[in-house]
Amino acid sequence: MSSYSKKAETSKRPKMTAPKVRARKGGDKLRMVTAYDHPGAVIADRAGADIILVGDSVANVVLGHEDTLSMTVNAMIHHTAAVSRANPSALVVGDMPWLSYHTSPEDTVQNAGRFVQEGGAGAVKLEGGAKRVEMITAVLDAEIPVMGHIGLTPQSVNQMGGYRVQGRNVGPAYEMISDARALAEAGVFAIVLEGIPDVLAEIITNEVAVPTIGIGAGNNTDGQVLVFHDLLGLHDGHLPKFVRQYAKLADDATAAMEQFFADVQSGAFPGPDETYVMDEESAQLLRDMTDGGYAGLIGDDLMADEAMER
Ligand code: KIV
Repeated sequence: MSSYSKKAETSKRPKMTAPKVRARKGGDKLRMVTAYDHPGAVIADRAGADIILVGDSVANVVLGHEDTLSMTVNAMIHHTAAVSRANPSALVVGDMPWLSYHTSPEDTVQNAGRFVQEGGAGAVKLEGGAKRVEMITAVLDAEIPVMGHIGLTPQSVNQMGGYRVQGRNVGPAYEMISDARALAEAGVFAIVLEGIPDVLAEIITNEVAVPTIGIGAGNNTDGQVLVFHDLLGLHDGHLPKFVRQYAKLADDATAAMEQFFADVQSGAFPGPDETYVMDEESAQLLRDMTDGGYAGLIGDDLMADEAMER
């Protein structure tokens, strides 16, 4: 029996949508965070997230992979649906995994549509610049809002030769500005800028009419995003320079669990408050029956179990 069978409440703010995100250009900074499951979505939504990205970073921070390339549409939808079941006020954006938007516009639309129909997402995100415009246009034609993502695009790890800051030289930086323009003109409602120098992010932010959301892109974007497990300190793996850890929950969780195990050893757990009881008369009868060989006399009424109250 799970203690999670009762649903936790999310926030009661007006529902965020892709057009509302788009309208925040140059306004209040957009607050985006990743989440991959129901409790994570509840936490993010209660904290005031505008956007919850069900990122394919789930591969790294939850599933223990070295990169994101093993994620499939089915796996991403599994996580997206869990987040959507929290019914957050934040916009849920499903991250399209590698190869789900590379082969044809038809496949791309089918895959994006599954994020909406099966995952409950209000938008999808995909990586890449001008070369993705054909696929983005097809998805937009199917009435699904698209978020762009340029700079350090983790699905290009093999082509980049590792996770490296992008756009440090003028040529690639200029190309990235063109990519951002192409995405904005294609109709994306926001663009994630990952792992690029702050000045480049600032120029792109000034160049495009849609909000930019930075991660490792300095402070002059229209919003910021961090990965749930990075910002909460839920793992002790490598942390990129741009991460600020706002908590060390892995340490807190280890300490809490150590205390649980110590209480088990000492007998301090469970205590009276964590224990179900039977009325003393029935308990004594049961003791007498088992002591005195009454087993054969147990009637149906004595066997009736009461529903457990939790
Ligand atoms: O998958 C992810 O978490 C992302 C963010 C880093 C933007 O794409």
